[in-house]
Amino acid sequence: MTSLSIMPLHPSLGARVEGVDLSRPLDAATREALTQALAEHLALVFPDQDLTPDQYMAAATAFGPPMRQHYSQHNMPDHPDIGMIWHRNGQRPAEAWHTDHTNRERPPAATILYGVEIPSAGGGTSVANMRAAYQALPEAERRRMETLVTVNGLDGHQETLDEDRAKYDGAIRHPMVRTHPVHGSRAVYFHIQKAKCIEGMSPEASQAYMQDLLDRMIEPGIVYHHQWRKGDVLVIDDRATLHRAHGDYDRTQARVLWRIIVEGDRPVLV
Ligand SMILES: [Fe+2]
Repeated sequence: MTSLSIMPLHPSLGARVEGVDLSRPLDAATREALTQALAEHLALVFPDQDLTPDQYMAAATAFGPPMRQHYSQHNMPDHPDIGMIWHRNGQRPAEAWHTDHTNRERPPAATILYGVEIPSAGGGTSVANMRAAYQALPEAERRRMETLVTVNGLDGHQETLDEDRAKYDGAIRHPMVRTHPVHGSRAVYFHIQKAKCIEGMSPEASQAYMQDLLDRMIEPGIVYHHQWRKGDVLVIDDRATLHRAHGDYDRTQARVLWRIIVEGDRPVLV
């Protein structure tokens, strides 16, 4: 096993991992150490990486099997499990708090982003610790949320192609509080735009409750803000965090991230 150095970046979540060259094959011990580190720190930053698409795909498998993304027009032509995050072709930064692809029965364990072109200022990515958010809720509200289920499909995003909608829309039920399969702790889990409703509530009441939760839960004490440097790989644990992009950069400059999502478990509360 390579000698890993893991240094926390924020009191609540996030850690910088040094001593790993993701362009090279990772042995079983390193993979296991990274799995545990992600479950504990929820966001891992690997600085100064230099990866081809094939090397990036191979490294991503340390966190799970890559899964196809539903904005197929942004997939890299020869590597369709790599999605391009950029502002070309009308793509806008995802500035609302969310976790990825909750319209899948087995939504991603992790979202992995590789900084290929980075603007000179702004354009960061924020990650919120929803394990801490869960713990901070009043006990009565935690107990109530543990009974709630969201019904998820594709949102009305104007960029979604009809062929992707046909494949990936649905009515997928997920618990609103889920137990992390590696860490064993609980976290709040929902994507406000992909949750068509909370079961037993109207769509309007569901949206209002989820928005109220976001307003109350997400505060600076549980947010790690990543300011990108070219060559960074950021791994986000989608099972216990929400994330968002920041569009506060000069659009005459490029911001290009390569995204891989890796399949996780079916969310459960135990
Ligand atoms: Fe996302």
